[in-house]
Amino acid sequence: MEQGARQPPHVVIFPFPALGHVHPMLNLAELLSLSSNIHVTFINALSIHNRLLRCTDLQSRFGRFPGFRFKTINLGLGDGLPHSSDDIMAVLKSLRTTAKPLLKELFLLDNCELGTTDKIIGQVPPVTCLISDGILIIALEVAEECGIPTFHFRTSSASSFWAYYCIPQLIHAGELPFSGNDLDTPIANVKGMESFLRRRDLPSFCRVDNLGEGAFQCVMSVTLSTLRTKGLIFNTFEGLEGPILDQIRVDIPNLYTIGPLHAHLKNKLASESKGKSISSNGLWEEDRSCLKWLDEQPSRSVLYVSFGSVITLTKHELTEFWHGLVNSGQQFLWVIRHDVIKDKDDVLEVELKEGRKENGYIVSWAPQEEVLAHPSIGGFLTHSGWNSTLESLYEAVPMICWPQLADQQVNSRFVGEVWKLGLDLKDTCGRVIIEKMVSELMEARRNEFLQRANEMTKLARASVSEGGSSTRNLDRLIQDIYSI
Ligand code: UDX
Repeated sequence: MEQGARQPPHVVIFPFPALGHVHPMLNLAELLSLSSNIHVTFINALSIHNRLLRCTDLQSRFGRFPGFRFKTINLGLGDGLPHSSDDIMAVLKSLRTTAKPLLKELFLLDNCELGTTDKIIGQVPPVTCLISDGILIIALEVAEECGIPTFHFRTSSASSFWAYYCIPQLIHAGELPFSGNDLDTPIANVKGMESFLRRRDLPSFCRVDNLGEGAFQCVMSVTLSTLRTKGLIFNTFEGLEGPILDQIRVDIPNLYTIGPLHAHLKNKLASESKGKSISSNGLWEEDRSCLKWLDEQPSRSVLYVSFGSVITLTKHELTEFWHGLVNSGQQFLWVIRHDVIKDKDDVLEVELKEGRKENGYIVSWAPQEEVLAHPSIGGFLTHSGWNSTLESLYEAVPMICWPQLADQQVNSRFVGEVWKLGLDLKDTCGRVIIEKMVSELMEARRNEFLQRANEMTKLARASVSEGGSSTRNLDRLIQDIYSI
């Protein structure tokens, strides 16, 4: 390297170890590596990293960037992924002790060595900044201790972030905590959502009767910690969440809306002809036979059913979905993960286990982005995880939402009531209502939802095209990293 020449920035990216968080942050890492010569260190839990190694060709995806490296942390919690609020708390607790030494080493060692020698050590320049998952307060604390500027990345919707952010006002106004069953009571103190938000649409943990102030304190301090960062990154786009983003900007002016990231990355790869991105999310072996089956189905005739990587269902819930789907007479493609059932001792009915029915096809993991882009898909029965929501609306696929955890309750309200992209099945799970909603989505109201979905898709596509808002915001993020 030339004497005095400026070194490229080095960004540490640190997601919470769950697929819904790792996937968009890996996409961002790849976009940064493609768009600039920024060095990226991606911190991954060992359990996630091993899955990535098993199922995707990490070498071909990231090996082509000389400035990219993974660092792994052993959380000591086995190979499992978090499936409940308790699991999430356990991971956060483990990270408090396991992540600290690694972060310190990254932040201080490189800097310290570099300060004295003014040379790149092993091709890695000193850390310029941290892009941390917004729920990892420990990462921000260590970065502050070491003088490393931090950007937060919230992998959920901006709307759900805003609902979390308003918890102090909700407590102050006596709207939280609440108890009892009246979940239809309107919520008045989340600005911008007054006309449609109900108790049942708040993030899931708000429902727990005796959660206690400690839990609210914890969520509040995590959310408010973003105020200490240089800016907040969202996997969303202005055309989708503009009014709520404007509310957030009053307190956090520096927002980077750069989504939908999966599409943003695909566009970038296409425009630079740098090969094909893995369409896979990489944590499970995909059953690609479903694509062949889809090829044989008529256009827009199949309902895709998947509840993401985290939530589990009881045997009763699975059975109700099965009957609702079969009775609807619609073709369906259903992802039933090997670990989806709540009680390990429960045995599924043979029909469900075998997964073959005249109108159905079952796999344990699908190439979801490709499935949603397939012309045979006409609807998506989803748990309203944020990635699934974005992937669906990008392909103009109307949704039936069955939210369970965290941000999913907020997302599904927006899908049903604000964006009018489908139906909200929240808090019910009976075969009759499921059958009715499937028929409504796929037949009775099909054209109405398709029209809305097509309008939204246009906005999404424009945002990640040349000159679109998400493209410009990513460029601004890169410039801001360079100017640190
Ligand atoms: C978690 C939370 O549950 C969710 O609420 C939050 O918004 C993000 O983190 P997860 O439940 O896994 O995520 O849902 P989601 O965000 O939808 O992510 C699932 C990902 O898995 C999607 O990118 C989807 O494409 C992928 N997937 C899912 C597959 O590739 N194949 C499948 O068969 C199912």
